[in-house]
Amino acid sequence: MDIGIDKIGFYVPKDYIDIVELAKARDVDPDKFTIGIGQDKQAVPQPYQDAVTMAASAADSILNSEDKQAIGLMIVGTESSIDESKSTAAFLMDLLDLPEDIRAYEIKQACYGATAGLQAAYDFVSLNPGKKALVIASDIARYGIKTPGEVTQGAGSVAMLIGEDPRVVKLDHKSVYMTRNVGDFWRPTFSKVAFARGKFSNQVYVDFFNTLWDKYQAKYDVTADDFKTMLFHIPYTKMGTKALRTLEDKLSPEKYAELTANYQESIKFSREVGNLYTGSLYLGLLSYLVNAAKANEKLLFFSYGSGAVGEIFSGEIQPGFEKVIDKKALQAVIDNRQKMSISDYEKMYQIEYQDGTIVDPTAVDAEFYLSEIKENERLYKKNK
Ligand code: COA
Repeated sequence: MDIGIDKIGFYVPKDYIDIVELAKARDVDPDKFTIGIGQDKQAVPQPYQDAVTMAASAADSILNSEDKQAIGLMIVGTESSIDESKSTAAFLMDLLDLPEDIRAYEIKQACYGATAGLQAAYDFVSLNPGKKALVIASDIARYGIKTPGEVTQGAGSVAMLIGEDPRVVKLDHKSVYMTRNVGDFWRPTFSKVAFARGKFSNQVYVDFFNTLWDKYQAKYDVTADDFKTMLFHIPYTKMGTKALRTLEDKLSPEKYAELTANYQESIKFSREVGNLYTGSLYLGLLSYLVNAAKANEKLLFFSYGSGAVGEIFSGEIQPGFEKVIDKKALQAVIDNRQKMSISDYEKMYQIEYQDGTIVDPTAVDAEFYLSEIKENERLYKKNK
């Protein structure tokens, strides 16, 4: 049975800050941020947006009523959940108007959560022929104003419908994985912002990639020549570049040039949006599908979640994927946004809704929003 990604869509908040303006405001050479870190813009969520509202928007962009009836499993991967008990997935049931006959839950393992969800979805579909699984990655990446990590913030969500005879990417059920207890990145329950040993995290990420790539090649007797493109977890685009560069001396100049050129196509969206945490790898897939992908290309995916779990798996772009991937509409999600000044971003960053807040719907510029906090319970609405 062929199983994989049958539909994929994403959501990013409608406001962004310009990275050159951020650099100037922080008295940093803009080249450090645009070349050294590799970012151009950063998505900024409104206070009425969170992992729930963004997940709802991404999923809503791909689902029709037939899909909803076929879904038997919904998993949200997130590390910016709004509740320590109730899952982000449970909130989505009525926002997306889903039938109750669904197993819904959340997975947390830093930026690896959505990949864990994808693999569980694969297993679910293979055991339940005819059913589909909805996997959503949704996160707000926050490090704090004037911190070294500020330039690597971002927000957004990616939704994928997993099913039989997939129309976008067939997963070939080949994967290698590893877990190591590492202190490269963490966010204690009391904190809205993450703590990161950024440079150490880079080293662990590259080490995981090299270890897993060796393991994958040995296990499946393949080389880089068997793949057209390598997609990386890209919290900021320089990070994937560093992993890819480790292959330069091991590959033919032609193969390395091809992988590098395709990597550039896969990071176009991330340069514009910033860090989606667990959605970052899949935003890279979307960027590649919109900008360069061709039918039957073999893809290698490197997923990494600090703490740390890594996995390399593979798939194949399906003939006719363009019929499911509306390139113009996906590009429009990136293009139809407005710039926010650095001072407005700084002011908004401090806003944190408390119990008793009621959000004025006429001031909301999003399909789904936090409408109220009542008895400390967050309540959501779909914008009419
Ligand atoms: N022009 C071009 N490049 C420049 C530059 C300039 N004027 N000034 C600096 N750079 C380069 C540096 O050489 C460096 O490149 P390298 O990484 O290839 O060596 C890069 O810009 C970053 O400079 P650095 O001094 O290392 O930046 P920093 O101390 O501000 O830290 C991060 C950068 C990424 C480590 C920091 O933003 C961070 O911790 N972010 C959080 C990242 C994270 O942990 N994410 C989750 C992991 S999955």
